[in-house]
Amino acid sequence: MSSIESALNEIRVFHPSEEFVKQANVSGMDAYLALCKEAEDDYQGFWGRLANENIAWKKPFTKVLDESNAPFFKWFEDGELNVSYNCLDRHLATQPKKTAIIFEADNGAVTNISYHELHARVCQFANGLKSRGIKMGDRVVVYMPMSIEAVVAMQACARIGAIHSVVFGGFSSKSLYERIHDAKACAVITSDAQMRGGKVIPLKPAVDEALTLGDCRSVHSVIVYQRAKCDTAWNAEHDIWWHDLIAGQSEVCDPQWVGAEHPLFILYTSGSTGAPKGVQHSSGGYLLMVKLSLQWVFDYKPTDVFWCTADVGWITGHSYVAYGPLAMGATQVIFEGVPTYPDAGRFWKMIQDHKVTTFYTAPTAIRSLIKLGEDLPDKYDLSSLRLLGSVGEPINPDAWMWYYNKIGQARCPIVDTWWQTETGANMIAPLPGAMPIKPGTCTLPLPGIKSGIVDEVGHDVLGQNGGFLVIKRPFPSQIRAIWGDPERYKKSYFPEEMNGYYLAGDSAHLDEDGYTWIMGRIDDVLNVSGHRLGTMEIESALAAHELVSEAAVVGRPHDIKGEAISAFVVLKGARPEDPAEIRKIAQILRDWVGKQIGPIAKPDEIRFGDNLPKTRSGKIMRRLLRTIAKGDEITQDVSTLENPAILEQLKNAVH
Ligand code: WTA
Repeated sequence: MSSIESALNEIRVFHPSEEFVKQANVSGMDAYLALCKEAEDDYQGFWGRLANENIAWKKPFTKVLDESNAPFFKWFEDGELNVSYNCLDRHLATQPKKTAIIFEADNGAVTNISYHELHARVCQFANGLKSRGIKMGDRVVVYMPMSIEAVVAMQACARIGAIHSVVFGGFSSKSLYERIHDAKACAVITSDAQMRGGKVIPLKPAVDEALTLGDCRSVHSVIVYQRAKCDTAWNAEHDIWWHDLIAGQSEVCDPQWVGAEHPLFILYTSGSTGAPKGVQHSSGGYLLMVKLSLQWVFDYKPTDVFWCTADVGWITGHSYVAYGPLAMGATQVIFEGVPTYPDAGRFWKMIQDHKVTTFYTAPTAIRSLIKLGEDLPDKYDLSSLRLLGSVGEPINPDAWMWYYNKIGQARCPIVDTWWQTETGANMIAPLPGAMPIKPGTCTLPLPGIKSGIVDEVGHDVLGQNGGFLVIKRPFPSQIRAIWGDPERYKKSYFPEEMNGYYLAGDSAHLDEDGYTWIMGRIDDVLNVSGHRLGTMEIESALAAHELVSEAAVVGRPHDIKGEAISAFVVLKGARPEDPAEIRKIAQILRDWVGKQIGPIAKPDEIRFGDNLPKTRSGKIMRRLLRTIAKGDEITQDVSTLENPAILEQLKNAVH
């Protein structure tokens, strides 16, 4: 494991205040350790107890965990529930008037919606879906801006047992097509446009185009929420306005009870090879852990105003916008716009205006806001805050300290939460009233989560050495399958040499307190602005352009985005040498990738070469490309290289 080395040496430690500890849901280290011990002593009893306490079951389960067909685990299998019932109906008796969502539009307009109203709107829309023949088990693609309607759409699917697959609104028509096609979706829910940063960005045209890119015969309905009232091309055969769909529909819709293992959703995410993976989640186990993490990690209190800034197109927006806060009966903020409009104080102003208590965002957002206005937060009253969260990538200690001091005013603990699309909920994160925190580490696993760090053959590494991050026992919210590809699921996450452990794909090490420090990915997955992108996906997109013969993509460190994308491209024709020509072709290729995958996948830099550095067997030597992209001197062994001269050429190909 000599290649996995940690350069960080952080020694600052921050203890929660006595006041915070006193009121915390899990108060003090002993309380945390007691939960861990309960799980250790009786694993199934522990999860069974929590599932009974936290979920309203229509039919109780009799068995907690079935491991007989590992790694296809089943949790609470004979139990029946409905996730939307748990998120909405449950609260109607106790707090119908409580605000469920404070929605702030791009232009600053605010809409509050109570649990009672949200329930009515979800039921109405669910009835609308049923009127189109959509039923339990059908797949529905949601391609929506951040809005109350996006949450309504997801909850309505859950209500009738349909399986949603949310596609981030920044993805291109091609990415959208691939997801519609893979899931064989029967309907797409979208909007005419989205409003971001004062601009109207059309969305429906991407759906129209996606449906022409290949076989989408499964799609019989395109439901369009009218957000911007812009001109919208119409196909009367399958398009229907949201408002027409719900007109006259009842505000009552009995939930469809489903088995605990019934898929709640599919969410596509990047893997190291091949097409994006349709990560399939369950209903019961997933709901349980998003709820528990809100109580344990976010120390949820009924008086909280919770704000997770993630888009519903990512897992964070599923677990900590669409489901978790509602399952807890929380009041949450949903924001349509961007953090820099009208200026870089927008987040801080919204925290002030809505008296946000719990704020959950990504390091990339923090870094860009530091750059745009380090002292801007001083202008706002942030005294409502009591807890801060971070997710998506390791947070560098500098950004952590700024977040802690400027936003949290040295008063709010920061929960640095490590988890993944595949884990559904927080896995390694501080319980803020239990353990001290240190900048840059996600600290200790949640009770019942048995994480570890192992070598290539699944043996624990000793001491503080780096290795592969694994989770050693099945847990309720874990991925159940890759949609339509059980073999790929097994190979990706439970490779034989790993002893049956779940392989997360990250490298990490422990420190002297047993805290986990995430060091990065072990596969060819980039983390750009907190979003996972497979280098393979970008390479295939580049190679699909008529000018390109071959391409390799690597990440290099970037101040704000975490990682930037560097592409090395061999053209079919001669290598361009004229700077204007180089710029022109680079721009064409960047736009092309934007169209193929989405703007977030556009390479930040493209270098053209006559060839790529390859081994004698023809394997591209990516570690050398990484060194070149970083601008470092190559000190690695290049003796196995077929064509060493290419390194010089690529090094000098900066334009
Ligand atoms: C990275 C996002 C360090 C990690 C919830 C993981 C993190 C991938 C953290 C999952 C964190 C996420 N510290 N790294 N707190 N949170 N990561 O599926 O590499 O979009 O494997 O899920 O992001 O990204 P995903």
